[in-house]
Amino acid sequence: MKILIVSVLASFFFCEASNSFNRVIELTDRFLEVKGDSQWLVMFYAPWCGHCRKMEPVFMQTAQSLANTPVRVGKLDCTRFTSVASELGIKGFPTVLFLKGDEVFTFSRDRTREELVDFARRLSGPPVKFIDSCTDMQVALQDEKLFFVYVGERKGDLWLAFETSAKHLQDHLMFFAIEMDCLKWHLKEAKSPAVAVFKEGGNIVMPPIGLDGGVNETVQQWILAEQFEDFVRITYGNLPLLLKTGKILVLVVVDEDKVGTLTHEMDTFKRDLEAVMRKNQEEFREKVQFGWLASPEIGNSIAITTLPLPCILAVNSSSYQYFLPEKESSILDQEEIVEFVRAILDFSLVPQGGRSYSTHFQRTVFEASVSLGQMWRGNPVLTSVLFGLPLGFLSLICYSIFCGDIMEARDDDEDQLIDDEFHEKKE
Ligand SMILES: *[C@@H]1O[C@H](CO)[C@@H](O)[C@H](O)[C@H]1NC(C)=O
Ligand SMILES: *[C@@H]1O[C@H](CO)[C@@H](O)[C@H](O)[C@H]1NC(C)=O
Repeated sequence: MKILIVSVLASFFFCEASNSFNRVIELTDRFLEVKGDSQWLVMFYAPWCGHCRKMEPVFMQTAQSLANTPVRVGKLDCTRFTSVASELGIKGFPTVLFLKGDEVFTFSRDRTREELVDFARRLSGPPVKFIDSCTDMQVALQDEKLFFVYVGERKGDLWLAFETSAKHLQDHLMFFAIEMDCLKWHLKEAKSPAVAVFKEGGNIVMPPIGLDGGVNETVQQWILAEQFEDFVRITYGNLPLLLKTGKILVLVVVDEDKVGTLTHEMDTFKRDLEAVMRKNQEEFREKVQFGWLASPEIGNSIAITTLPLPCILAVNSSSYQYFLPEKESSILDQEEIVEFVRAILDFSLVPQGGRSYSTHFQRTVFEASVSLGQMWRGNPVLTSVLFGLPLGFLSLICYSIFCGDIMEARDDDEDQLIDDEFHEKKE
């Protein structure tokens, strides 16, 4: 009996502790008054929204991961507290904002715990985090997958440019500043001051800035170009940033199943491209970003067609034009992939697509037909009612306008039409 009571008590305290620490706080109108008191990560939701419900558990895990940080995590029902929603300009659900002081940042990455936690961690500190000791630098090297660092005295044009870029990109990237000494071993060729990126165990130092072009623009463009790991998984969440790299994106298009695995053929093909990337890094790194598209929809939309899987697709991130190998990509060997990339870089392949008006139109039509197809597969009855009914009425109206005068004369045609419409509805 005693043991039972103890264990009940223990579990009670345990729940209490974990609740009070890591709770997602349900916010009300009063949020507008208290939001200035600390840093907030808030999900704005509506009870009827399916994506919000799907995000709920992810958001709870996020709150737990942020338990030992100054960030408080909350959610707000926008249908009940409309004043807060309109004050903060919430337009869709779910919207996740990070609020500190008067600053508001909108979360735009994939809705995973990892992305949400990184987003909050980056924003909870200053745009550039100062590192004073070599030990802290080692910690950063271990903890961060990818970060930018300014090395040297914190003054002058390069520092200002670095700080400005950090302010713009704080919600996406991590920025540090440090004195030279600790990094001697890492950045051998760099002269202080310098800007570098650390990724995948190595580092790249920003080349000296030429006389043309402003320091601010050059630093920001370099950071945008270097912000991804060497072989990146591309999703709707990071695509907008990839299009800002200014590089040629060389991608393998595959189709992941629900648990994130690939068929043997697709996996082999993906590894081939990665091998090509590692072997030819020196030659391509500056101009090419390699990666893989986990779901083919993005690729199909860029190429305005249903791509065979797996395949290689290259995209000029500045012009949105794309390139496909002449041979069917699944039978390309590594040497042929290298040739393909070289041909793009020396302009001997003709790009297709792009952002022109007609391409845009084609893309819209293509995407609409794809969504219609998906809707059809998901729920054929609803789709045919939604589209069949208005079409049926439209054809009736057209019929009566254009063929009104011969209506009486051709009774059987009318029967035929009603018959057709009936079938359409039934489908
Ligand atoms: C870069 O931007 C910062 C902040 O906007 C500004 O103070 C500085 O003068 C700019 N530097 C140059 C060289 O334009
Ligand atoms: C990519 O597009 C930009 C902008 O249209 C163009 O200047 C550049 O030459 C293109 N690069 C390649 C390799 O086609």
